[in-house]
Amino acid sequence: MIDYAALTTQDFFSHADLVALLGATDPKDIALIQKTAERVLLENCGNAVYYRGLVEASNACSSDCFYCGIRKSFREVNRFTLSADQIVECAVLCSKSSYGSMVIQSGERGDKAFITMLEESLRRIKEETRTKEQPDGLGVTLCIGQQTREIYQRLYDAGAHRYLLRIETTNPRLFAAIHPPEQTFESRLECLSDLRDIGYQVGTGVMIGLPGQTLDDLARDIQFFEDHDIDMIGMGPYIPHEGTPLGSHACPPVEERVRLGLLMIAATRLKLRDVNIASTTALQALDPIGREKGLQFGANVIMPQVTPQEVRKDYQLYPGKPCLDENAQACRSCLELRIHSVDRVVGYNQWGDSVHARKRQSSETGARE
Ligand code: 5AD
Repeated sequence: MIDYAALTTQDFFSHADLVALLGATDPKDIALIQKTAERVLLENCGNAVYYRGLVEASNACSSDCFYCGIRKSFREVNRFTLSADQIVECAVLCSKSSYGSMVIQSGERGDKAFITMLEESLRRIKEETRTKEQPDGLGVTLCIGQQTREIYQRLYDAGAHRYLLRIETTNPRLFAAIHPPEQTFESRLECLSDLRDIGYQVGTGVMIGLPGQTLDDLARDIQFFEDHDIDMIGMGPYIPHEGTPLGSHACPPVEERVRLGLLMIAATRLKLRDVNIASTTALQALDPIGREKGLQFGANVIMPQVTPQEVRKDYQLYPGKPCLDENAQACRSCLELRIHSVDRVVGYNQWGDSVHARKRQSSETGARE
């Protein structure tokens, strides 16, 4: 029997402790873990939830990940690419809605036309979203997969300051089982290291409940976040997509994947304390109040949809994506209610960088002086 009352009073968590946290199934133990994670969040990061207006810029993709609904060889997808004008328009909408930041996400594509278009969009966003409340304009996070170092640098120079690249799983064997051979674990690590060198705040994350994934794997994922000094985490339950090669493989039932998704947030909060953790859409896709639960288990970032409504349905990494036909204004007020319902406030008009990143940056500046 694991003594969860004792475990949740610790402030150091070993690998075995993390496995124990992730393995909780009794509702009483889970409630204890949740309360502790929430307290650690409030103590280290405060009670603000930061918004990242989500723009899905293109669903064209040059990769063929075995789990993803926009993989290159899936023919039933209507491919689209937004123009720079459309992306800037979304950014202005974020700014007018007082969202402090946005995320630009897309399939993995490094072609010249797309990168140049993004570069132009970023420069314009930084110009056109300067307001009295936000003199530096919107904060921008990019989430456009593996790219060359040169491309990462260009996009950083154009104004992006955070980058999220999920490692998907830190078990190299599992990584190889869910990706085609041309995509390697090592190259993803190299990308994460390039992003850090360039000066981005770096985010990563994993899918939870993949076929064959163990609690040991997930505990090691959390250790990986710490070892790589990660600033922000985006992770969520794996959701099988019928049209993909992995879609037919058995994975844990929905309740288990939701529970594990929430426990991963809590365990990561307990171990890392001051990073930003997103309560992801995948949680909500499996549970109507999954995102609120994510906040209660220690997450502090949410991504309201701002992608133009007419293309949202074409950006489905997995089935059951919520908010497909809400307009951006409806999304904003619905989310605010949801956030207040769990006694938190919205950090409007702020970039909402993680405390972890701010501490690292100030120690780097200190060291240079
Ligand atoms: N289920 C859950 N998450 C998925 N992603 C892609 N496909 C799925 C799926 N079927 C996640 C991956 C990717 C991110 C953009 O979306 O982790 O990095």
